[in-house]
Amino acid sequence: MLPCATARFATVDSRTITVVSAAIRAFNLNVQRGKNHILHDLTVEIPRGVVMGLLGPSGSGKTTFMRSIAGLQRIASGEIHVLDLPAASKPLRSKIGYSTQSASVYSDLTCIQNIRYFASLYLHNEKTPEEILEDVDLSRNADQMAESLSGGERARLALATTLVGSPDLLILDEPTVGLDPVLRVQLWKLFNKLAAQGKTLLVSSHVMDEADSCHQLILLRDGRVLAQGTPAELRLRSGKSRMDEVFISLIGAA
Ligand SMILES: Nc1ncnc2c1ncn2[C@@H]1O[C@H](COP(=O)(O)OP(=O)(O)O)[C@@H](O)[C@H]1O
Ligand SMILES: [Mg+2]
Repeated sequence: MLPCATARFATVDSRTITVVSAAIRAFNLNVQRGKNHILHDLTVEIPRGVVMGLLGPSGSGKTTFMRSIAGLQRIASGEIHVLDLPAASKPLRSKIGYSTQSASVYSDLTCIQNIRYFASLYLHNEKTPEEILEDVDLSRNADQMAESLSGGERARLALATTLVGSPDLLILDEPTVGLDPVLRVQLWKLFNKLAAQGKTLLVSSHVMDEADSCHQLILLRDGRVLAQGTPAELRLRSGKSRMDEVFISLIGAA
């Protein structure tokens, strides 16, 4: 069993308040793919309403962990709870927006047609396709064919497809890959805006300098959690300022 209850209570000035439970809790998670043991006793807690960066070099297990959260990965042992439900539970399907590493949109449809198509797969949509495009700053591109979008616009359209159905949790696997630094910063701002609206975002990257766009970080290496904390906490712990140096230093300390 997971070590803590799903919702916790705290007493402040003799008033009892409910502390909102975590969005994701993984406990001693082990995952095997083929003959390879990929995730080793992974234990993390991801609070709600934050942008959580999942940072680690290629092959460190980011995609495998995300697949586990999305309920698409067979788990060898351990537990994983998502929005207070066991991963892969049916009710989670409408609560999670998952964008895979090779996220694609339909090139031969316009932006609005793409969103309408994804929306047609859901019974209930809190927002209209127009409102979803507005959320990702693509209103003026609504009638443009997806194939003619710039890299940044295409990335925002891919993000928009995960927003259909108004999920509480977004799992975005390397969404900024291939974008120039200015566009990357814009996309991270958008992630922060969505978190401010109450969504939880788990965003992976192998680019360490994206760390400062996140509220908290999980540093992953060889399928193990190297460290978890805010960028400031990890800098303090390692005594380094650049995040790639923080990472290397924490490997040395592990
Ligand atoms: N189907 C598979 N069979 C065996 N090993 C796999 C399979 N898929 C991925 N792996 C291995 O799992 C490790 C982690 O991969 P992945 O989760 O994709 O890492 P990341 O997303 O951080 O690049 C890699 O060593 C990769 O080769
Ligand atoms: Mg990956």
